[in-house]
Amino acid sequence: MREAVRTGHLAPGTRLPSSRQLATDLGLARNTVADAYADLVAEGWLTARRGSGTLVADRMITRPILARSAADPSGDFCHDLIPGSPDLAAFPRAAWLRATRRALAAAPDDALGYGDPRGRPELRAALADHLARARGVHVSPEHILICAGVSHGLQILSGVLAGRGARNVAVESYGLDRYWGLLAAAGLKTLPLPLDTHGTDPVPPVGTDAVLLTPAHQFPVGTALQRDRRTAVVEWARRTGGLVLEDDYDGEFRFDRQSVGALQGLDPDCVVYLGTASQTLAPGLRLAWMALPPTLAEEAVAAKGQIDSCEVVSQLTMAEFITSGAYDHHVRAARRRYRDRRDALVTALLQHAPKVRVIGTAAGLHTVLGLPPGTEQRVLQSAARQGLKVAGLSRYRHDRSLSAMADALVVGYGVPSDAAWPQALSALVRILS
Ligand SMILES: Cc1ncc(COP(=O)(O)O)c(C=O)c1O
Repeated sequence: MREAVRTGHLAPGTRLPSSRQLATDLGLARNTVADAYADLVAEGWLTARRGSGTLVADRMITRPILARSAADPSGDFCHDLIPGSPDLAAFPRAAWLRATRRALAAAPDDALGYGDPRGRPELRAALADHLARARGVHVSPEHILICAGVSHGLQILSGVLAGRGARNVAVESYGLDRYWGLLAAAGLKTLPLPLDTHGTDPVPPVGTDAVLLTPAHQFPVGTALQRDRRTAVVEWARRTGGLVLEDDYDGEFRFDRQSVGALQGLDPDCVVYLGTASQTLAPGLRLAWMALPPTLAEEAVAAKGQIDSCEVVSQLTMAEFITSGAYDHHVRAARRRYRDRRDALVTALLQHAPKVRVIGTAAGLHTVLGLPPGTEQRVLQSAARQGLKVAGLSRYRHDRSLSAMADALVVGYGVPSDAAWPQALSALVRILS
């Protein structure tokens, strides 16, 4: 905190979170935080006034953040608004530990052996039930494959597709280049799909073997695939024998209404469903799952390998976490947290930067902010100078895509802790206004 005040990352007058709130965010005892606050007040870094909380003192700034050189945008950032991660300070450590204890106590000894390459049966059974309930996915546990992230799942599927002689995979014009890279590494060509004001047109050109989509919440643009487009892509798959790869990375986070069910429910025989714990819990768990069409299951299991490459204690814990109801409880709380953050962002922009348009459905952990034409790079530079890490929409564009979207920022509001979020939001709004 001394360093943050000294360098201007914490501006004079900034209100700090209560000691109770910060202790929760940091996983410390409240007294530890209260003692640290008391020391910093005694040293003159902070001021504490009854009724107005703890504030950064006025006179300590020696190097204001605005003085950072524009040529050094990679300097130390104080707020991370890059999409792709939830609030890691909100990981349910205590509940996860309880689930681990219960799961290990109940697990048979052979659970700790090499095991079934599909993953632990307890987790596959729990997921089949949970996914049916929460996402309308229709799958039996024997056709679920546990993997270490959607990335790992796509790596497995790329191998299967290439092994079947596939050559072309259609992808959305905007997305994650790490996925396009995985497909390319297996010798598959990625063909970007056209994009219009309703989002991606998902029916791929002749000669396409599979299509990779984010139907519930297009990444990063944020649109939900419309009903007629959902049926059109499934009909394409039935007609041609093609495969739809559905990346449902944040499907449980829809805020304005009940989330739209997974595409997989329309036809489990031609859609592979990919889900992940990376957005609901933490990417570091490296825990994800695929619901496979029965005709693909054997090849996918063989492509994963002869032994399960995913760590078993996390799998057992996740199974227990789901069946005990702790996962639902956590997702409900997380949904409230991120909905409140999104609402705060929309309200602040309306008030202070009315020219900035919020694009996409009210869902997930990120949103897209449409900027006036020609301003994206300038806004990014200004954000970097002020210690704000944020991405421009152009960063996610496929290099062969025909249509370019207008200038925009992709703002991930999941990463900051509850205590850091208000400051991250004010920094963003200051730049945009
Ligand atoms: C579009 C998309 N898909 C999937 C994921 C999750 O990937 P993984 O499960 O490999 O962590 C993310 C997370 O950033 C994402 O943005």
